Amino acid sequence: MNDANHSARAVLPGTTLAIRPTIATLRESKIVEVWEMGFHVPDVIGLWVGEGDLPTPGFICRAASEALLSGDTFYTHKRGLPELRQALIDYHRRLYGVELDDRRVAVTSAGMNAMMLALQVIVDAGDNVVTVTPVWPNGIAATEILGGEVREVPLDAGAGGWSLDLDRLFAACDARTRAIAIASPGNPTGWLMPDEQQQAVMDFCRKRGIWLIADEVYGRLVYDRPVAPSFLTKAGPDDPLIVVNSFSKAWAMTGWRLGWMIYPTALQPKLDQLLEYNTSGAQPFLQRGAAVALGQGEPFVAEFVARCRAGRDLVLQRLGGMGRVRVSRPDAAFYVMFSVDGERDTLALAKRLVTEARVGLAPGAAFGAGGETFLRLCYACSTARLSEAMDRLERFLDG
Ligand SMILES: Cc1ncc(COP(=O)(O)O)c(C=O)c1O
Repeated sequence: MNDANHSARAVLPGTTLAIRPTIATLRESKIVEVWEMGFHVPDVIGLWVGEGDLPTPGFICRAASEALLSGDTFYTHKRGLPELRQALIDYHRRLYGVELDDRRVAVTSAGMNAMMLALQVIVDAGDNVVTVTPVWPNGIAATEILGGEVREVPLDAGAGGWSLDLDRLFAACDARTRAIAIASPGNPTGWLMPDEQQQAVMDFCRKRGIWLIADEVYGRLVYDRPVAPSFLTKAGPDDPLIVVNSFSKAWAMTGWRLGWMIYPTALQPKLDQLLEYNTSGAQPFLQRGAAVALGQGEPFVAEFVARCRAGRDLVLQRLGGMGRVRVSRPDAAFYVMFSVDGERDTLALAKRLVTEARVGLAPGAAFGAGGETFLRLCYACSTARLSEAMDRLERFLDG
């Protein structure tokens, strides 16, 4: 264990301030690297980060502001307000037909915090987490912060979309594998894991005593069905499954930092402790807004999905018409990944696109194995903005 060994320390550059070596070697997110560079360039159409261009709907904001003004400002239940936990139980029954015991539900400070809590439960130094990539990099970094190793299993990109070879996933697991981490719908790929594959992975994890961390943050952003397949419908209350979720995406609440997690009943006392020692619970006035989002937010979710579908169709059609571009069709979430013939270094390309074409995209190398030769574009915005971005891209790439 590196960190138990006090002689193994690193220092902050130019100081004698000692920190954990694991923290000293943390890499900067390559998405942030391009994004920060773009701060200084005027008139960039930024499609690099994972959020839409709509603010949180007024009825959700009003519920939170009223709670704030009425003095809902005290310490609260670690696992979330009972009212919000009940709203989450009702939501999962309505959406997936699953009946959750209240002990299995915790409100978290967004999806990122849910992911970190799940990993804190599971990962010790020297353990590994088998992770399907390309993927949003924060779960990888969180595993490394805890001293774990990430084993990347890349999806295959084809013209018809992304797919996962299950044999490859299972072969990557060994005696030190504590968890398999899967994000479906996927960021950055828009990949949707089919029901049969979810069942096979859940069965494998149950048999091998390996945790499954399922990131279902984009579960509502699907275009040919009402809701994405969920691991919750393949698992019982005692199975080794932790589902990470968030209010950020479907309700346009990225800045609120609110999410939730579902886990086996027996984990509840330990999770209560971890919540206490991490955040001591999420802001109660924000949670009032989140409860209203679940109860009254369906029309907004439907409208947002329609907006994303229009964005996706436009982007696929325009990219498809660009001679040097190869697109992998996304089934879900709000991203598209594409490669450009003759361009291997997508970090350099993303930087040139910012300064020369004034379009902000995320470099695929930010998302681990399998993403390196791609750029990621977030299409959760108006078609007018996307059209302008496509015009600029076309001029730059094919002009
Ligand atoms: C796959 C995935 N999971 C989790 C998150 C976390 O979202 P948040 O922390 O805003 O809830 C994101 C954010 O982009 C994501 O893309």
